[in-house]
Amino acid sequence: MKEEKENDLMEKIVSLCKRRGFVFQGSEIYGGFAGFYDYAHFGLALQNNIKNSWWKKFVDLRRDMYGLNSSIILNPKVWEASGHVAGFSDPMADGKQFNVMFKTQVGAGEEAVTSYLRPETAQGMFVNFKNTVDAFHPKLPFGMAQIGKAFRNEIAPRDFIFRQREFEQMEIEYFIRPEEWKKYFEYWRDEMMEWMEEIGIDMGKVHELDVPDGDRAHYSKRTIDFEFDYPFGKKELFGLAYRTDFDLKNHKLEYIDEEASEKIVPHVIEPSMGIDRAILALLVSAYAEDPEGEQAPYGAGEKEKRVYLKFKPSIAPVICAVSPLLKNKPELVEYANNKVFAPLKEEFGRVAWDDNGNIGKRYRRQDEIGTPFCIVIDFDTLTDDTVTVRDRDSGKQERVKVSELKEYIKEKI
Ligand code: GAP
Repeated sequence: MKEEKENDLMEKIVSLCKRRGFVFQGSEIYGGFAGFYDYAHFGLALQNNIKNSWWKKFVDLRRDMYGLNSSIILNPKVWEASGHVAGFSDPMADGKQFNVMFKTQVGAGEEAVTSYLRPETAQGMFVNFKNTVDAFHPKLPFGMAQIGKAFRNEIAPRDFIFRQREFEQMEIEYFIRPEEWKKYFEYWRDEMMEWMEEIGIDMGKVHELDVPDGDRAHYSKRTIDFEFDYPFGKKELFGLAYRTDFDLKNHKLEYIDEEASEKIVPHVIEPSMGIDRAILALLVSAYAEDPEGEQAPYGAGEKEKRVYLKFKPSIAPVICAVSPLLKNKPELVEYANNKVFAPLKEEFGRVAWDDNGNIGKRYRRQDEIGTPFCIVIDFDTLTDDTVTVRDRDSGKQERVKVSELKEYIKEKI
């Protein structure tokens, strides 16, 4: 019974994502293509807000982190040294091991070499370790950070954007002295938890799994998987790994501590986070139904059940929507556009114009996009310069002075 209900939730989320323009099935008009999805306008906004929040916390606000945007296709020697050619495989049903890296040909004719689309962003950072040290002279501990696509020819892609063949990662390689690994492992565990909470992941659904010997990736001496209660079960959300000196050693890289005049091979703590899984966890965390529904104002429609996404304003695709009560009354439209929409748009950027259908329909639509505030310009506005601001979660409405709108929203977010 519970399972049925949960599958139902997954179906509701997938259909909302299509209906409201978050995520579309890849190549849909040709029947789709398993493991590939396209992000539409609002999904992309959500994605950008997540990336920006990650980059701000882990790069911009720190002094010890260096960003990178490396190429997706690397010299194939990288993947031999990293152990991926030999060991990045999943078992097949008939017992045969299948390497999940996507092969591609680089160059033409006899000159062509076989390389791979990167299965993790991490190696781009390891192979730029020396360049980074030479360019920025960082002292240990320090980190490198990268956001970008990764590709895996998953044998069984499934569960919407959970297991895809093309996805996006946000990764940090944090270089430390070997004797300090436990301290920094704990430190990054806390940082990851703090960020998950910050963006609005339901922490009651997050569980830590200390991955046992034999189940860890070939490079890891300790891994914690942060698992999440998705509607289809408790599955991995993010990972934290102690990669030792495995990668730097294999690439024959080292660090020279000039003050102590010693050479060392730093060890690595790696917090690794998939953007698509973050988005799915956020959708599950934010999804809410109000069976009682709400009576829309201005006599707009029956009281009906409503669905809303209670995203935090900091990551919501749209912060507020602006609506003239009637779209065929030029005086309302002009006021709404010039005195409300334009200044709010300039201030917050993520502001939507919505004049489609009656007010009830607009509220339902903005609820499903997860817009925290809907602002309505009505006939009273023309005489008293106040507007109705309706709160997504409580459905409560307040009259607010147009001159105080920016401050009102700033305070709420
Ligand atoms: N560099 C380490 C690494 O790649 P991983 O556990 O294989 O470790 C890291 O992947 C994260 O990337 C996962 O925790 C997950 O969030 C995301 N991820 C991995 N495979 C994925 C897939 N097929 N589809 C979507 N996200 C995936």
